[in-house]
This record gives sequence, C-alpha cells and structure tokens, in this order.
Amino acid sequence: MPVLRCINCQTDFPTSQRIYTCARCDGLLDVVYDVNDFRGEGLGEHLTSVWDQRRASSSKIDQSGVWRFRELLPEADEAEIVTMGEGATQIWDAPRCAEYAGMNHLSFKHLGMNPTGSFKDLGMTTGITQARRLGATSVACASTGNTSASMAAYAARAGMKAFVFIPSGQIALGKLSQALDYGAVVLQIDGDFDDAMRLVREVANESPLYLLNSVNPFRLEGQKTIAFEMTQQRGWQPPDRVVVPGGNLGNSSAIAKGFHELLERGVIAKAPKITIIQAEGANPLYRMWRDKAETLTPVRGAATLATAIKIGDPISWPKAVRGLRWSAGEVEQVTEQEIADAKAMIGRDGIGCEPASAVTLAGIKKMVAAGAVNPGEDVVAILTGHVLKDPDFTVSYHAGALSYTSKNGEKIRLESRYANAFAHAPAERGAIMKALGV
Ligand code: F0G
Repeated sequence: MPVLRCINCQTDFPTSQRIYTCARCDGLLDVVYDVNDFRGEGLGEHLTSVWDQRRASSSKIDQSGVWRFRELLPEADEAEIVTMGEGATQIWDAPRCAEYAGMNHLSFKHLGMNPTGSFKDLGMTTGITQARRLGATSVACASTGNTSASMAAYAARAGMKAFVFIPSGQIALGKLSQALDYGAVVLQIDGDFDDAMRLVREVANESPLYLLNSVNPFRLEGQKTIAFEMTQQRGWQPPDRVVVPGGNLGNSSAIAKGFHELLERGVIAKAPKITIIQAEGANPLYRMWRDKAETLTPVRGAATLATAIKIGDPISWPKAVRGLRWSAGEVEQVTEQEIADAKAMIGRDGIGCEPASAVTLAGIKKMVAAGAVNPGEDVVAILTGHVLKDPDFTVSYHAGALSYTSKNGEKIRLESRYANAFAHAPAERGAIMKALGV
C-alpha cells in the first residue's frame, strides 16, 4: 500500500488523510510505493510487459497514458477514476529546431496534445480521482492558466464545483476561456500568481475546498508518467537528457521522480539528466543553482511574456533540487528574445507550442553554444502547452509588434527575427497572383 511520506522528516501518513504538506514539519509530501512490493527477479521485465500489453487494450483506463501505469500510482477503483484519455502524446522529430540549436537530432514530446491542451491533465486525472476518494465536492487551485483550464474540465466531468484563483489580466486568453466554458468559478485576484497561490492555500486550509495545485502530491503522481510513457515509446530506452520548463517546479519534480522509480525497479539503467529552463525574469531556481545556495530566494515581481511560468516563489523547489541531484541535472535561463525566436522555430517544424514551452529549445541552443550540451546527445524536450493557448503572443510576434515590460517597469520591444508577415492584396485576381508571386 502506498503511503504519504515527508521529504524532510520522513514521517509517513496514510493516503486517506487529507493533508497537503507534512503535519509535523510542513515539508513537501511524496506518494511512496514499497520497492519490496515488487522486488524479485525480473521486476523490470514484468512491469514493462504488463504496460506494453495495455497499450493494445481497448479498456478506458488502459488507454489513458496515466492509468496504464497503475502499479506505480495511488490505488483507485476503476469506477472512481476520472479520466479523459490523457497522455498517449507523440514524440516528434524536429529537424529545423535541431539545426537551429546546433544539435544533430532533437525531438519533442508534445504534452499540449492532451485533452485540455497542456500537461496538467496528466496530474488532474489523479488529483480529481483522489478528491473523489476523499469525498470532496469542490476543488480549488491558483493558476497561471493551464491548471485552471484542466481542473475546471476534470471537475466538470466528476460533477464537482471548481474555484480558480488567477492573477488578474495576466493569463493567456485561451486558458481563461476554457475555465469559463467548463463552468468554474473564476476569481481574478489583484496580484500576481504568487499572491494567488498563497491565498488559495489559506482558503483551502480553512474550508472544505480540496486544493489541486502541485503542492498536492497526487497531482505529481499523474505527471510522473511523462517519464514512463516517454521511455515506453522509445522501447524502454531513456534519452540522455530531458529538457523541461520550470515555473512552480512541479512538473520537473514529477518527471525526475518517474525516472527515479524506473531506475529503482530496474526498468532503466540510468536516469536522463533533468534540465530545467527558466525565463530570465522569473528565475529563482536558476539563481539558487548558480549560487549553490541551500535555499531558494523568491524573485519578487516576476516578469515574462511566457505567462505560464511567471512565478517568483515556486512551491516545489525542494523536490526539483532533489530531482536535479538524482539525475546530475542542470538549470539554465533564457531571455524574452530567445523564447520568442525559439517559439517561432518550433512552429516552423509544424509543431507549435505556447511561449513557456519554447524555453526548452532556447535553453538547448544556449547550452550547445556554451559547450554544456553535446550536439550528439539524445535529447527529448518537453512541450507543455498547445500553440492555441496564447494566440495573442504568436500574432504579435509575426506582426512585428511584440514587447514586454521588464521587472523595473521598462517597456522593451522584441525583434521578430523569424516573422511570417501577413501579405495583403485587393480583392482582385491579378493583384492576388502578383502578391503571391505565382
Ligand atoms: N509550461 C506551461 C505551459 C505551464 O502552464 C506551466 C505551469 C509550466 C510550463 C511550468 O510547470 O509549474 O510544474 O514548473 N503552469 C501552472 C499553471 C503554474 O497554473 O497552469 P511547473
């Protein structure tokens, strides 16, 4: 039976207890599975053969790219599971991006291809299922947009009421429109994400609302299957390196835990280096790692056009640091210009993503140029959100009209180096053919 275990003081709690952090020391909690539950000759082979068989099954939970791996997930009866067939996202080669970054080869696993257009669905299926197991009827989160869209959808599927706390005017329109359409109560807070996060935790502690931010370990259990599915898709061969954007630092922590569990059970022989990329204006982990600090110092007034990762005080940093140590990982930061250009390149490969996802390619390019990534490495970058989440950013870039306000309030115009400008023509055949050059 899995237990909740504090990553600081190692105290165990039952998974039936409604807590988000350690009741003794307030440390972050992990869901832990006894390695001995499965120990024995050929454990790795046993798991991979069960998981491979399920890929061909027509059962709803086997088709979920999360619940397919249920030997390493919190227990849930099939009837309790709230799934929308999340996961099962493709890994795509990106030759133009590889060339742009100076790599021989590069591929993207696109988690924007999930039911609500982001990786959050992987954690929400396990989070909402746990909410149901605990008898919760209403759920809450703070969000830069994607968590709220995902939670609103899964709560609607489960017949629960959803309350989302968002920083007023600071989330992309696609995400806001989703939360509204899925029927959540959308509360715009006059503050930034870090304020919304603090407030939703306070409210959840004093009300029946069940908190579904990634401080909730059941969210991360779903997201760790990114590591499982990626490895399965590659014939159980992990890559050398997995590159992931860093915001609240739940996803990088979850992916690191997933690889660690595969390593512990002998499914893989070596964990890929987890490489976390942050935006320069929202870079607390980058600073901590660079300075070899013991604790994270929050960045006040985080600023980036990649609004999904506009976070200065990430909750899961201790788990992210643990994941970096487990995997000999690294942290890099990239500028707004680098993000905008990388996003356009990902589009040119016919893939596309939202701005926060593009920090991956920008980071790889920077690390190759610095000699920190070898061009021959086998690298998978994680695209976290769909290109349609933030069309304002994309259209502004291609129209040559993208600018951002830096932390000290300065308005900075970005160059549109890979712009695909609109062509205009009067409504007349000859003029159109001339404009098209055909
Ligand atoms: N990419 C996208 C598209 C995101 O929406 C987020 C986080 C991240 C990357 C960073 O992941 O927080 O686990 O380090 N979005 C959260 C939200 C904060 O509220 O939707 P992280």
